[in-house]
Amino acid sequence: MPATVIVGAQWGDEGKGKIVDLLARHSDVVCRYQGGPNAGHTIVLDGDVYKLHHVPSGILYPGTVCVVAAGCVVDPGLLVRELDELEERGVSTDAVRLSGNAHLIMPWHVAIDSASERRLGTLQIGTTKRGIGPAYADKAARLGIRVQDILDAKILRQKFETALAEKNVVLERVYRAEPLAVEELAERMESLAARLRPYVADTSLLVERALKDGRRVLLEGAQGTLLDLDHGTYPFVTSSNPVAGAAATGVGIGPTRIDAVLGVAKAYVTRVGAGPFPTEMPPREQERVRELGAEFGTTTGRERRCGWLDLVALRFAVRVNGITSLALTKLDVLSQFDEIPVCVAYRLRDGTETAEFPAHQSDFHHAEPVYEVLPGWREPLDGVAALDGLPAAARRYVAFAEEALDVEVTLVGTGAERERVLARTPLAGAARA
Ligand code: IMP
Repeated sequence: MPATVIVGAQWGDEGKGKIVDLLARHSDVVCRYQGGPNAGHTIVLDGDVYKLHHVPSGILYPGTVCVVAAGCVVDPGLLVRELDELEERGVSTDAVRLSGNAHLIMPWHVAIDSASERRLGTLQIGTTKRGIGPAYADKAARLGIRVQDILDAKILRQKFETALAEKNVVLERVYRAEPLAVEELAERMESLAARLRPYVADTSLLVERALKDGRRVLLEGAQGTLLDLDHGTYPFVTSSNPVAGAAATGVGIGPTRIDAVLGVAKAYVTRVGAGPFPTEMPPREQERVRELGAEFGTTTGRERRCGWLDLVALRFAVRVNGITSLALTKLDVLSQFDEIPVCVAYRLRDGTETAEFPAHQSDFHHAEPVYEVLPGWREPLDGVAALDGLPAAARRYVAFAEEALDVEVTLVGTGAERERVLARTPLAGAARA
């Protein structure tokens, strides 16, 4: 604090939502800086489960300003549904602010995402089919429709006409999919636009002013480092930049404004979608972890692939994000194992070993994990109220990661509920060290 970035240090789904939720209690502003409804945060509050896709998890604290920043892509239908659901459950959305520069995910983006995955067949990326890639592609091609376009119904309609003149040809001729009707789309969008207009704001200015006033701002990344378009396991990545540096561009503040970067990593690793995964477990162990950790995607319900903690990939995440401290989540899931392998190096095709993440895709594809096997603790962590109270083997597990990465683990997750996070320094809402 005051400006802290929270970034996923693996392939997404590290449990960032819960950590953001915890820190949001001490924040005045929480901003999502990239991604869209491909992300999903599950928060359990007083036994109630909230699944958020667009709106930052700070929404559950009255008065916390929740920003969907310029670097995001927004599906207006899904956002309206999310806002309505929150309101129906008594959660006010008055403090939500939507950047006019964020791009809109349109029905053709969703249609093209699905059709393009079908066309790729066995080479498919395994996207969430939410239209993310096509929306960011149009943004880069300067063909996108932005949130600010909903402010004027006439402009919006013109943009639909221009876009559909091209997109319908692509849908019909390339993907053999149904074309979209301008009239129908314009009508549906107008009611969504009317609902969203009050939330549109100059969010760059809002965040800059908050920082100048000494307010605490959380900048929340979606997905994770290894899904980053530039630094992740391309092409099996998302179409935006989850890395911490992108928080500045995504929000519209200078990099000098950022004070700290909290990386969130699971005590093991999961991945949804296709792509290389060196520490992926054999199927039976994966099933066990999937069951214990409820490893199913929040957005698509897909089974997550599970693997052992990969310190090579995590060291890379520390580097590319400039991580200043780590949160290690779901440590309790490992309580069932007698021995826990941790990947400390990769063996490359030429037989050499490296502790650094390979710079080239084919080296990563062929990398074999070199494990050090640590003893398990075989005790539930339910009753543990402080980091010092963890079983000795669990403390050793955490310390092993800290030494290998040269970064302090300041938060440890021991269960799904909001309060099951142990903190190294006092933090209201979390158990103390
Ligand atoms: P897209 O972001 O829907 O284009 O999907 C690209 C890749 O990123 C796929 O492997 C997805 O499974 C993965 N992905 C996207 N969002 C998330 C997320 O929030 N958590 C985990 N994986 C994600």
